[in-house]
Amino acid sequence: MSFPAERPRRLRKSALLRDLVSETRLSAKSLVYPLFVCPGRSVRQEVASMPGVFQQSVDRLVEDCREVETRGIPGVILFGLPETKDARGSSSLGQDGVVQRAIEAIRKAQLRLLVITDVCLCEYTDHGHCGVIENGEVANDITLEILAEQALSHALAGADIVAPSDMMDGRVGAMRRKLDAHGFPDLPILAYAAKYCSGFYGPFREAADSAPQFGDRRSYQMDPANAREALREVALDLEEGADMVMVKPALPYLDIVRRVKEAFPVPVAAYNVSGEYSMVKAAAQNGWLDEKRVVLEILTGIQRAGADFILTYHAKDAASWLK
Ligand code: PBG
Repeated sequence: MSFPAERPRRLRKSALLRDLVSETRLSAKSLVYPLFVCPGRSVRQEVASMPGVFQQSVDRLVEDCREVETRGIPGVILFGLPETKDARGSSSLGQDGVVQRAIEAIRKAQLRLLVITDVCLCEYTDHGHCGVIENGEVANDITLEILAEQALSHALAGADIVAPSDMMDGRVGAMRRKLDAHGFPDLPILAYAAKYCSGFYGPFREAADSAPQFGDRRSYQMDPANAREALREVALDLEEGADMVMVKPALPYLDIVRRVKEAFPVPVAAYNVSGEYSMVKAAAQNGWLDEKRVVLEILTGIQRAGADFILTYHAKDAASWLK
């Protein structure tokens, strides 16, 4: 069968027909909205490099969560901007920490929302690295205990899912053991399993005030050149007890999303990161791209590649466009 018998355009004739045969159906239900929580009251400070994204105090954050719920988005992921920073990221631990207080406030508001927390040290350390420094290097094993404590403190505050993003070896296992030993055997772990060392995190580091003060993250985040290594990272995290895995960033790594999806029967998330968001926003503000059209195309592409859900700063806009 070939032309003139075969005419693929027959199924593109009307919107109804195109919809009937659509292979990918984007929905607000598979989006997660990232939020930045800071100290204070009534704070809502826009991030210069991420128009439409804000650093917010707990009170304003809860209002925003209400809107997220109203738009049919099932979850948020929280990042903290603490009052103080030190070499070990101590401010990430207490129940009075910014993220812990935000979780409690969202819980109290009784919203139908999954609260996911990013577990990492870079927002809380004065040197901005994702682990403790020893002899000028990011030390793996002594970082694990702090990360596990942080995950437990999020659980105690009422988090629904913890998501380690630090890329230390063995952190998922350390967290799983800690959670199990303290009465949280049912709390799922979403592992940032294939997290690449990416230039696309630039705007996030302004939003979360987490840029490394020396060096870079190449000794713990993955080399963009590697794909098979991503499969090994995912396998290790699953062996250690991860329930879901994430690929990050999304757009330059859609091949990784696809390969992880095909190789492992677990939910796969993709993080459409800050730089990917900022590029679209900047072009849209200049009138160079149609924002709604490209955002929906990008999210469709990420889902088509194999993502079961997508973490994206476009979530609120996309959800209203999809209504
Ligand atoms: C923390 C963390 C980062 C992001 C998520 N968790 C930054 C980093 O690794 O430098 C990036 C998210 C984004 O760019 O939107 N380690």
